[in-house]
Amino acid sequence: MAEVIVLETAEDAGAFVAAHIAAAVRTDPEFTLGVATGSTPLPVYEALRAEAEAGTDFTRMAAFALDEYVGLPAGHPESYRSVVDREVTVPLGLDPGRVHVPDGSLDGIATAGERYEEALRAHGGVDLQLLGIGRTGHLGFNEPGSSFGSLTRVKTLTERTREDNARFFDSLDQVPVHCVTQGLGTILRARHLVLLAFGESKAEALAAAVEGPVSASMPGSAIQLHPRVTVVVDPGAASQLQFADYYRWAQDNKPEWQGI
Ligand code: F6R
Repeated sequence: MAEVIVLETAEDAGAFVAAHIAAAVRTDPEFTLGVATGSTPLPVYEALRAEAEAGTDFTRMAAFALDEYVGLPAGHPESYRSVVDREVTVPLGLDPGRVHVPDGSLDGIATAGERYEEALRAHGGVDLQLLGIGRTGHLGFNEPGSSFGSLTRVKTLTERTREDNARFFDSLDQVPVHCVTQGLGTILRARHLVLLAFGESKAEALAAAVEGPVSASMPGSAIQLHPRVTVVVDPGAASQLQFADYYRWAQDNKPEWQGI
C-alpha cells in the first residue's frame, strides 16, 4: 500500500516534497525528476526555487515531463513545454538539453510516443515521478480505460478533462482534443512515484486510486501496483479516505530512519 501523508496545506506539501527532492539532488546531482504540469505541482516547484536560493544546485538535474498537448503552436504559453520551462527549467537553471517533453507537434506525431520512450530508455529512466490526479482519475493524460501496460502515445482527452483545463485557455474550444502522454506502463517504471492532490474536488478520485479496486476504469489505481509510492495530500483531498486514521497513526509512529 502507498504511504499516505496528510499535511495541512498545499504549501506544506510542496515544501515537504521539495525538501526530499533537494536532499536527493545533493546526493546525486544528476537525479532525474519526472515533472507533472497543471496546478497541483506548483507548490513543489515554488519550494524547489526556495531550495535553490538556499543553496541546492539543481543545474545538473534532468527532467522528463509526463505529457504534452497535440497541435499547439511552438511557444504557446500553455504548451507543457512552455510551462516546464517557466516553472522548472529556467528558475532552477537546468540544462535545456536535459529537459524532455513529448513532442506534440503535428509534424511527426505518429512517432512522438516511440521517440519519447527511446529518450527515456536511453537516459535510464526517472528517479522520482511527480503526479497529479484528474477528476476522471487520470494519471498523466491516461483517461479511464487506459491499459496498465500502455507506453507513451497519443490519447484523446475526455470532455471533463478539457473542461477542467479550459481555465488555462481563453475558451473551451482552444483546449486541444489530443495529447501525447506517458502510458501507465511508462509511469510505473519510475523508481518512486509521488502523487499529490489538494482540495475536496480530488477526494473521490484520490480515494478510488489509493483504496479502490485496481481497474483500468480508474487509471490512478495503477499506483497500487508500484512498490514505492508516496501520496501527499491536504485534508480536503484526504476527506474520502477510508483508512485516514491509520495513515495518520502510521505517520505518528514512523521510524526515524525511514525516508519517504
Ligand atoms: C499534468 C497531468 C495531469 C494533471 C491532472 C491534475 O501533466 O498529467 O494528470 O496532473 O490533470 O491537474 P491539476 O493539477 O491542474 O488539477
